[in-house]
Amino acid sequence: MNIAATPSTLREIADMPAPKGLPLFGNLFEIDLNHFHQVLERWADQLGPVYSFAIGPRRMVALADPEAMKRMFRERPDTFRRTRRLADALAEMRFTGVFSAEGETWRRQRKLVAMALNTAHLKSFYPSMRTTTERLLARWQRAARDGADVDLCADLMRYTVDVTTQLAFGIDFNTLETEGPVIQQKLDKVFPVLNSRINAVFPYWRHFRLPRDRQLDAALADIQVRVNAIIADVRARMAADPALYEAPTNFLEAIIAAKEAEGIEFSDDDIYGNVCTLLLAGEDTTANTIAWAVNFFIEQPALFARARAEADAVLGDSPVATDVDKAGDLPFIEAFYNETMRLKPVAPINAMEPLEDVELMGYRIPRGTVIMMLTRHMATDEARFGHAKTFDPDRWLREAPVAGCPHDTSAYVPFGTGPRFCPGRNLALLEIRTVLSMLCRNFDVRLAPGTPPVEEHLAFTMMPRNLTVRLTARTN
Ligand code: HEM
Repeated sequence: MNIAATPSTLREIADMPAPKGLPLFGNLFEIDLNHFHQVLERWADQLGPVYSFAIGPRRMVALADPEAMKRMFRERPDTFRRTRRLADALAEMRFTGVFSAEGETWRRQRKLVAMALNTAHLKSFYPSMRTTTERLLARWQRAARDGADVDLCADLMRYTVDVTTQLAFGIDFNTLETEGPVIQQKLDKVFPVLNSRINAVFPYWRHFRLPRDRQLDAALADIQVRVNAIIADVRARMAADPALYEAPTNFLEAIIAAKEAEGIEFSDDDIYGNVCTLLLAGEDTTANTIAWAVNFFIEQPALFARARAEADAVLGDSPVATDVDKAGDLPFIEAFYNETMRLKPVAPINAMEPLEDVELMGYRIPRGTVIMMLTRHMATDEARFGHAKTFDPDRWLREAPVAGCPHDTSAYVPFGTGPRFCPGRNLALLEIRTVLSMLCRNFDVRLAPGTPPVEEHLAFTMMPRNLTVRLTARTN
């Protein structure tokens, strides 16, 4: 709600509950950025659904109220936006794409991205995804045969990048079968630095470089070479087959065609930025979600057995789902990953800021104030989901509500919601179903011996740290 329409009895941010902090530093020393979401969730338990906190001189607001959060998600791009800090940090890396764009620029880019990732495309794309899944299967069969430890997130990122580049750019990187350095090892440098820059008290990197900034610079230079090569390849393909300008077959062809079309303005920077955006947006998110689900497979053998029974029945003799309908016909595995994303969403917090002074929960929030939305907190609230902290996939399978056991799916937004909800959702879900069914159809899985406890680690996305596993050919 615009402030002009609200009564003057609004309270100010200074009136909000707040964790005790130090003069000048605020709560800086209580915030470990790799566990930022957990700190914010703990404060919400102690202070309630809206409170403020400070990192140095910057005062921010944290919000755990479902209705207020949903309103913010909905009122984009006109009243709320992603934070300027995020947009600036991404722009400094030349990653200006649909994720950080705003206003008209966002609308134009969003249309192309949504079209490229829509369900009709996914159906015709599935044979390529199946081939990539068979490569992952072969990689894991080798590891099983050799008794080798598998760094699960790293292998899954090879998978997700291979899928994204094929679908969105029509290029088969095949990093799953590549020895030596691959682009993922460069992309890996981006999110941790982004996470620290958007929360930094002082933008030191604009004045001097620490070792990790220099590492990032080197990684960005490498990414630039590789991404420019992709764009050059696709341009050459289009020059050889001009019909692709009229009927582009993927996102990159579509944005290049739109750049050439009269009246539509995409710069070379827009093209470069969006290629990087899709690479990044599709990599960690899906890989980490699959990895969290595998961790639940390990922790819950009885549920793993049910997932396996379902995969056996649906996949039949094939080690990988043969078509998109089979991959879609896995209700228990679907409940399993829904429950995984409720408890271990890769985006447990989402940051936004208002474009004008607004009212939220009886407070006046000045334009530009960073608001951290605690979306996992809402999905693990007893008022929204019964036995909210328990991993229980069956809650997603009940046909009728159980008395005293709420199941409020509107409080479950792992892909965001509103006009900017994740356009990669259907692709991600297809990847998740295909890989999880392949894994339980073919392998037994356990933690590698000596692995320290698996823990949540936030580096822009939330990943399972220490998830090294041993895969063995299934025995039953
Ligand atoms: C399990 C996997 C994934 C999760 C949990 C996830 C989650 C999210 C979330 C929470 C947002 C912000 C939504 C909002 O602001 O309302 C988002 C945005 C976005 N995601 Fe995903 N994502 C996943 C996979 C993907 C994939 C595979 C792609 C594409 C290859 C993708 C592309 C994007 C893009 C382009 C945006 C920005 C949309 C915009 O601002 O209009 N994501 N995602």
